[in-house]
Amino acid sequence: MANQYEVLGKAPGLEELNKLSPNDVHLTIRGLSAGYGKMEILHNFDLTVSKAQSLCLIGPNGAGKSTILHSIYGFTNIFDGKIEIEGNEITNLTPAEKLSKVGIAYILQDNSVFPDMTVEENLLMGGYIKDKQDEAYEEAERIFQKYERLRNRRNQPAKVLSGGERRLLEISRALVMKPSILLVDEPSIGLEPRYINMVFDILGDLQKNENKTIILVEQNAKKGLEFADIGYVLVSGQTAIAGKGDDLLKNPDVGRLFLGG
Ligand SMILES: Nc1ncnc2c1ncn2[C@@H]1O[C@H](COP(=O)(O)OP(=O)(O)OP(=O)(O)O)[C@@H](O)[C@H]1O
Ligand SMILES: [Mg+2]
Repeated sequence: MANQYEVLGKAPGLEELNKLSPNDVHLTIRGLSAGYGKMEILHNFDLTVSKAQSLCLIGPNGAGKSTILHSIYGFTNIFDGKIEIEGNEITNLTPAEKLSKVGIAYILQDNSVFPDMTVEENLLMGGYIKDKQDEAYEEAERIFQKYERLRNRRNQPAKVLSGGERRLLEISRALVMKPSILLVDEPSIGLEPRYINMVFDILGDLQKNENKTIILVEQNAKKGLEFADIGYVLVSGQTAIAGKGDDLLKNPDVGRLFLGG
């Protein structure tokens, strides 16, 4: 069957990926084959991202975008390849080790706040894995200082939050562990337009002012590529095109297939 995505081409080589992330490499994926059970979803997949850089994964439904984040965090079966942070292999660490030892946080999609717990209790859940609870409290305090929207609702049940505030709480909960890499799956999903910009502003602030490295998946390809420094277009478990966000926005094939243009 003719495949509408074939025009995009085939996996860019490592050299090309390294050019997009030339300095201070933070996380790399090399030759990753991974999936669920025995089913392989990602095929010989490569990725490179620099410190404090943002990378957006776009592509059709089922391409394997979420599976890349799952694999980094440790939710998939890895058949081959490796994942490294600053040159140290982390492929087989558990999700808990990823979070507490190497600073990778996975921000859950939608509806992961506990509606009957207060905003503060929800936030502190982010630190449940920390050895030192004091540090979790300190970090939660810093987050309340920073985000007035959460501070004002601190002692109210999370169910009173608006959709945008709820997303802010989901992101903030991950921050309690002071991660250096944020994996964010579809930050804009289910949000009204005015909140979508708020969420991207928050991610932009975390990248620029707190030097977080951000890998995100975004169904809203335009927003995602406008936000991110670099983007990969994923098709059938492999990267078809990689480029600077701005360049992908200008690419006519990307425009036609993913930007509704
Ligand atoms: N937990 C799972 N168990 C088995 N198969 C899964 C699981 N999660 C995803 N898959 C399969 O892996 C493939 C890739 O799914 P993935 O969720 O990574 O796609 P995606 O690019 O994130 O798509 P979408 O844009 O719809 O979120 C799909 O065929 C899906 O059915
Ligand atoms: Mg997905």
